[in-house]
Amino acid sequence: MNRHNSLSISKPRIALLGMGTIGKRLAETVKGIPEFELTGVGVRRLTPALIPIIQAGIPVYCTDSNDNTSLEGVVAGDAADLLSSSDYVLDCTPRGTGAVYSNVYNNYNLRMIYQGGESSALAACNYCYGHGYNEAISAPSVRILSCNTTGLVRIIHSLSSSFTVQSVRAVLTRSAADPDKSLKGYVNNILPSMGVSHHSSDAKLFWPDLEVHTQATYAPVNCGHLISMFANLKGIHSRYEILDVLRSSPRIKVIEGRGGLTDLRDVGRGHKRNDCPDLIIWQESVQTFGENVVLSAGVHMESIVIPETLDALFAMTRLELDVNKAMGRSDQAIL
Ligand SMILES: NC(=O)c1ccc[n+]([C@@H]2O[C@H](COP(=O)([O-])OP(=O)(O)OC[C@H]3O[C@@H](n4cnc5c(N)ncnc54)[C@H](OP(=O)(O)O)[C@@H]3O)[C@@H](O)[C@H]2O)c1
Repeated sequence: MNRHNSLSISKPRIALLGMGTIGKRLAETVKGIPEFELTGVGVRRLTPALIPIIQAGIPVYCTDSNDNTSLEGVVAGDAADLLSSSDYVLDCTPRGTGAVYSNVYNNYNLRMIYQGGESSALAACNYCYGHGYNEAISAPSVRILSCNTTGLVRIIHSLSSSFTVQSVRAVLTRSAADPDKSLKGYVNNILPSMGVSHHSSDAKLFWPDLEVHTQATYAPVNCGHLISMFANLKGIHSRYEILDVLRSSPRIKVIEGRGGLTDLRDVGRGHKRNDCPDLIIWQESVQTFGENVVLSAGVHMESIVIPETLDALFAMTRLELDVNKAMGRSDQAIL
């Protein structure tokens, strides 16, 4: 029998590869959802991210066949052992590595979830904020959109739910590195966008006819990304109408005050690591002129894609066929 047909009677068995920024957050969350079985995590070396995994008794597998010295005494087997005992794989390896592994995953008849560093063509469908959910239910593989595009899609979706959005332009000022990769960052520079960034074509996966243009720069910070957006709506709407719509949208938090990206940590207080999976929008930044609205939003890049990845997992495992219920369950799981 095809093992994917037996999902309703046994727990979906999920392997996770790569325990970096995204992987460690997903592993910790997935192991806390009783309907899922985290079969193990695949890594190349021992790192502090493995501590809660080892303490929880989740097996660790070494994916580097040449070297498992740092994992001696901890490792339960190799990549083949992990993949052959799983139905799904959450690929959280660095950009481009998922594409290298895709044939291996296929050989084990796994269904895959890739992250936004992979190309949109690698997976059978792309998922973000409810878009692509029905396709994900039966897709052999799903790609989660990147952190900035997730922020952008949440805003466009929210505005589109009440207004006709005619065009969107955005400048994305990105952190040069995650906090754990500060050695890779730039100390005193802002790198300009070389033309239009990939975020517009990713957002247009869901609104092919919408005019969307983005530029993306890098700034020497590691606390979040900033989305500065101009949207053109059909008709004239007050900023209060727009704020009401944004406030009523899941995974968007409108906050008061003239703050900055470090607000993400304050909004995230109470979450593990002070993560802020919600997109934040500064109330004062939302202004209108004619048919246009401008706003500024903050993206906590390390955590914003965690709820979307869980949504995709609920879809693929068919534990939840209703997208809104799935989103509610994902949000509950990361509280
Ligand atoms: N970080 C973000 O802000 C962010 C946001 C949204 C989406 N994403 C996307 O999420 C994906 C993961 O990004 P990330 O930032 O979490 O990367 P990361 O922090 O660099 O983590 C990747 C992890 O994978 C490990 N790894 C590399 N090759 C491996 C292999 N063959 N087997 C097992 N583990 C392996 C790396 O460890 P070693 O090299 O030590 O082995 C590292 O711990 C990328 O597609 C990225 O574009 C990232």
